Amino acid sequence: MVVFKLRFPWKGKKVEETPLEEEEKEVKVDFDRLIYEKIVSLRADYRILESYPLVDPWARALILERKVDGSLLYFVDEIPLTTEERQLYEKVMDILYWELEPPPSGEDPREHFKKQVSKIIRKFRLRFSSSIHPGISWQKIEYYINRDSIEYGPITPLMKDPAIEDISCDGVGRPIYVWHSRYESIPTNIRFDSDEELDDLVVKLAHKAGKHVSVAFPIIDAILPEGHRLAATYKREVSRDGSTFTIRKFKDKPLSIINLVLGGTVSSLLAAYFWKILEFNMTGLIMGVTGAGKTTLLNALATLLRPTIKIVTIEDTPELRLTHENWVQLYSRPSYGFEGGMGEISLYDLVRVSLRYRPDVVIVGEVRGEEAKVLFQAIATGHGGITTIHAEHIDAAVKRLTSPPMEIPKGYIPLVNFAIAIKRVRIPIEPDVYRVERRVTEVWEIQDYDQYILVSRWDPAMKSHNLMLEDSILLPRIAEMTGTSLDAVFEDIERREKIIRWMTYKRLTSYQDVGRVITEYYRRPSKIMSMVERELPRYESYT
Ligand SMILES: Nc1ncnc2c1ncn2[C@@H]1O[C@H](COP(=O)(O)OP(=O)(O)OP(=O)(O)O)[C@@H](O)[C@H]1O
Ligand SMILES: [Mg+2]
Repeated sequence: MVVFKLRFPWKGKKVEETPLEEEEKEVKVDFDRLIYEKIVSLRADYRILESYPLVDPWARALILERKVDGSLLYFVDEIPLTTEERQLYEKVMDILYWELEPPPSGEDPREHFKKQVSKIIRKFRLRFSSSIHPGISWQKIEYYINRDSIEYGPITPLMKDPAIEDISCDGVGRPIYVWHSRYESIPTNIRFDSDEELDDLVVKLAHKAGKHVSVAFPIIDAILPEGHRLAATYKREVSRDGSTFTIRKFKDKPLSIINLVLGGTVSSLLAAYFWKILEFNMTGLIMGVTGAGKTTLLNALATLLRPTIKIVTIEDTPELRLTHENWVQLYSRPSYGFEGGMGEISLYDLVRVSLRYRPDVVIVGEVRGEEAKVLFQAIATGHGGITTIHAEHIDAAVKRLTSPPMEIPKGYIPLVNFAIAIKRVRIPIEPDVYRVERRVTEVWEIQDYDQYILVSRWDPAMKSHNLMLEDSILLPRIAEMTGTSLDAVFEDIERREKIIRWMTYKRLTSYQDVGRVITEYYRRPSKIMSMVERELPRYESYT
């Protein structure tokens, strides 16, 4: 049997570790020369706008602008394997296939696999050290083995780029497109030229997500181990040009409200206003198109909720991350039966069960269907609630809410206290040069069905958020609820605005930092305020 032929006589013997320093030096030189040559040839047609490492030193990104028409290209520059290295790569992959042992229980399978790859490569190196050319870069071979076995194959460098938000493949022979945070949607130089290659990657993606894909079940909607959202189709069953996939990348660290202030999505005053109204569990709706930044904003706002309240979050894919101790995270499950929707747990089921948890606030990732009705019933019975909806404007959002399948009675609309529109906007940097950024473009307070009060508007000409808080109906309500004057409410918003500004100067940007400062403000407001008052002028004197 082949399996025995491939087994090696030294299996089980103690293997000496071999030093790698010499190779590292050689690799650096190799890399520079290759990149240099490639750049020289690319320069004839392209201008290089930017270059940065993706997997140092093996792969880097080049953002290229074509000279003739100004079109952009995302060029993944990977150091190729030489013919000899490729042969070794294939041999080691073969051995791996036969020699791989399952991880002992409790060990992370990825870590286990990585260790095994290194071990097998070391064995292999030792065995062939005398007959192999000294210029071989084993580190490079190891990079490709890891790339093609435990990572994401040819799209691995794209998965490693934090500036890439989305990766999509429309079929065989088409370039992979990425959504880049600084350049929007751009094609890459990565392309699958054969059905087999692309089908294999889709099967691999499905397996990584713990799912099955086949001709009988050619659609996958799943979550990858790192939390990325995967949608894919298999072969030519439901997609004309072969398998397709889209990966929405999940950020390791969610953007906090401070990140959003620093990036200009909201102003510090607008953030302070949200903080104030969320303290009173006001219900809100965030609207925007796909990829506008709804979930990100929802997460950033949720960290502003009082740290001691009970929150239940309900999502299709678990994207939200909160610092609240009393937080229950629920997510839906597609059916796993072969007939009908057996075992399916929908958002609707989850919203219903969430009410048994007696939450102060229910957060639903996105409302699309009948779960909206239950959410509105929850709000009507005094729970707070925040959700997002796919719509561009308040009128369109209300129309969607009141039409099938959501069918919220019009009388329930004023139960929503505030509505936020978030958009991608083009910010001019120089004449004819734009950068795409996210902005909260409008904030309304809802007085009645079809009566919306605009309290904040993004002014593109002035590049600023204009707040009309004097028109607010929620702030007088808060004053009444707390038995204070409206002036006192405004003063508190001003204090919070200072805290937010102070956090931006101090770069307290993680969502955990935000959680800590908020908790501190509720516990010992005067202590944190005196620190802010003392330190803020010092920071501002530098700007
Ligand atoms: N304010 C922001 N500043 C910078 N990047 C942002 C901002 N908001 C979102 N992003 C990035 O944009 C991508 C999409 O964001 P997000 O998932 O929040 O959008 P969405 O509107 O919820 O999309 P979908 O409609 O698909 O659910 C993410 O990679 C996220 O990190
Ligand atoms: Mg979303």
